[in-house]
Order: sequence, then structure tokens, then C-alpha cells
Amino acid sequence: MQSVQHIAALRDIVSQWRIAGQRVALVPTMGALHAGHLYLVKRALAIANRTVASIFVNPIQFVVGEDYEAYPRAPDEDSRKLADAGADLLFAPSVDELFPGGCEGQTRMMVPSLDHVLCGAFRPGHFAGVATIVTKLFNIVQPDVALFGEKDYQQLLLIKRMAKDLCMPVEIVPVPTVREHDGLAMSSRNSYLSEEERRIAPRLFEILRDAATRIRDSEADYARCEAMGMRDLADAGFRPEYFKVCRAEDLSVPKEGETGLVILAAAWLGKVRLIDNIAVQYYR
Ligand code: PAJ
Repeated sequence: MQSVQHIAALRDIVSQWRIAGQRVALVPTMGALHAGHLYLVKRALAIANRTVASIFVNPIQFVVGEDYEAYPRAPDEDSRKLADAGADLLFAPSVDELFPGGCEGQTRMMVPSLDHVLCGAFRPGHFAGVATIVTKLFNIVQPDVALFGEKDYQQLLLIKRMAKDLCMPVEIVPVPTVREHDGLAMSSRNSYLSEEERRIAPRLFEILRDAATRIRDSEADYARCEAMGMRDLADAGFRPEYFKVCRAEDLSVPKEGETGLVILAAAWLGKVRLIDNIAVQYYR
């Protein structure tokens, strides 16, 4: 696997691939890689000739008071994992390389239909930071296809919407969430959990699953489901931020009895903020 830090070097390599008619995939990450990230790489290898993985802990998507400085970084281990997974190229730029003029006056992307709800309501400016860095990565790499995890469902929809609204010539491919054996969604931030918190953490997905089962079994009062989810999370020891039943296609509020639903939740466990979601599966 080749590894580059500079935009010019990356462009040289990718343009050669493109001249050779190869299909290029991009897997953007913030590093501290786990099996969820590597699954994105695996899926990329299956649908493209060349796979670029990027590692960049993006300062402008961290809200004031969040863990930008403390965010886990493991560059050598990450590089090994990506090489083993079969990625062709690692792009790991510095902050100066991507924000040569500093972050302050940086042009930013807005996705007004999606960046203020759910996580966006609790992390103001977060999604503008995500949309901006992803746009920059798309412009730098110019991939044919880019892969994003369903674990960050709102992020996935927001990137899809942005790419569509701005006619970006890239296909956005969703990848299912990879979980620990007990159901906890893999996340770089799980490493912050204490032993006791790690024991409680899988309850988040269990509570989402319970709610999905209730709705599937004909519970049509979504507000009641949401209130129950919030209460169950609090009872389990979380500080819940939201527990919402939404339309899967655009996260809007569903009407009673509608199908195509997703339930999303965010909750704190000590100093760790966990998010997860589940699609409501219908067997009828
Ligand atoms: P990061 O949290 O490192 O995640 C990188 C990609 O891996 C995202 O698409 C995320 O949804 C996916 N991912 C994370 N955990 C996963 C899991 N358990 N199963 C499957 N996929 C998983 O998301 C970001 O970084 C950043 O916001 C980024 C898009 C890179 C922009 O900075």
C-alpha cells in the first residue's frame, strides 16, 4: 500500500489510475480503525479497482468542548490494518495541508434539510464540518464511489443529499453497521468506555431493537415509543439526548402506520457519547 500526505502526490497517483480506466473508491475515516472501518474497505475492494482510504481527524467537525485533542490516534497501527485489508493508497494529510489558511475563514457546506436535526441539534456546526471535509476529500480524490457506514445514519443521508443537490459525480454507497458480539456498534470512541460502562453500552442497541419490534408488531404511537426508549435508556444508566422514530429516507417525522422507518438514538455513558440506529423490519 502506498501512503501519501500531500494533495499533489495523491492526485499524481489517482490520475494514473484514471488514465488506465480504473474505478476509484474512497473510504473517508478519522482513523483509530476498527473492524467497521475495515469492512468499508472490504466493500470498496469489491466494487472498485482501486481503493483510497483517508485518515484525517477533522478539527472543524468537533464542536467547542468536544474531544478533538483527545480523539484516539494510532497512525502506525492504522496503516498496517489498511495494508492488510488490501487498500491501495492511504491519504493522511496534516491539518496544514487541508486548511493552509487555518480553519477560521474556511468556506463551509450547509445541508439545511438535515444538518440541524437529531445529532445536529446537539452538536451545532458538526455536520457543516463533516459536509465541508467530505467535499474537500471528494474534490481532492475525485472518486467514482465513496462508502459510508450506516452506523452514522444521519451523516450518510446528509452526504447523499449533498452529493445529489450539488450534482457531485460520485456514487454514495451505504455499508451496514459492524457490531461487537454483544450488539454494541463498533466505534473509535468505545475505547473511552470504562469496564462498567462497556457492560452497559450494548443496552443502547437492545433498547432500539425492542422499539423496532414494538413498531413492527403494530405499535403506531411513535411518541409513546420514543418516550419509552428515553426512559429505558435512563433506567439503564445512560443520559439520553434523543430517541426518535423517523422516515428512513429523509429523517422527517413519519405519519402513523407508515413503513420505511428508522429509529435513531444518542446517549451519553459517562464521558462517552454513543449513537446507534435500527431500521424497522416488516414481515407483514
Ligand atoms: P469515522 O467515525 O472514523 O468513520 C469513518 C466511516 O466508518 C464512516 O462512514 C462511519 O459511518 C463508518 N463506521 C464507523 N463505525 C462503523 C461500524 N461500526 N460499522 C460500519 N461502519 C462504521 O465518520 C467519520 O469518521 C467522519 O465524520 C468522516 C466521514 C471521515 C468525515 O470526517
